[in-house]
Amino acid sequence: MDSIISLNNIQKTYSIGQVVVNVLQSIILKINKNDFVVITRSSGLGKTTLMNIIGCLDTPTSGEYYLNNQLVSGLGDDELAGIRNKEVGFVFQTFYLLSRYNALENVMLSLIYAGVNKNDRIARAEPMFEIVGLKDRIHHKPNELSGGQRQRVAIARAHINVPLA
Ligand SMILES: Nc1ncnc2c1ncn2[C@@H]1O[C@H](COP(=O)(O)OP(=O)(O)OP(=O)(O)O)[C@@H](O)[C@H]1O
Ligand SMILES: [Mg+2]
Repeated sequence: MDSIISLNNIQKTYSIGQVVVNVLQSIILKINKNDFVVITRSSGLGKTTLMNIIGCLDTPTSGEYYLNNQLVSGLGDDELAGIRNKEVGFVFQTFYLLSRYNALENVMLSLIYAGVNKNDRIARAEPMFEIVGLKDRIHHKPNELSGGQRQRVAIARAHINVPLA
């Protein structure tokens, strides 16, 4: 079976002035459909760096990354943005909800970029709030929500690209 996510010899270095930090070295990882994967390592050892590459938010310094059989490691920012919009759901370590929008608007945002009309956006977003148990908070802005509630809005947003059956 072809893997959904296939990382081959991924390396990531950060350069700060003259100092080069090797964060990821020779990462080989295959993730198949329906796999549930947990990545554990101590703080500062590269989990977010790896997730940013897998989520097409960042590119590796070297190595190949195939997402759904498409080589994405060499793509530019615009192409990666298009892939993120269609293929990736991401719950950030620090959520990144937009403070001027309410919970419903935060969850629907990527559907605007995907060209979905307003009625369909609402029809897809509202059930997400039922699933995460936040139906009575959809008109609240992030600063009117608890930390756990913000996390659940971020989870709802991460799943919005999966069309309802
Ligand atoms: N933009 C950057 N420039 C330079 N160094 C960075 C940058 N981002 C992260 N690092 C360094 O890379 C290393 C890995 O960071 P990363 O955020 O991937 O760790 P993490 O495993 O997610 O940690 P935590 O469990 O604390 O969230 C850290 O030592 C960090 O200081
Ligand atoms: Mg992290």
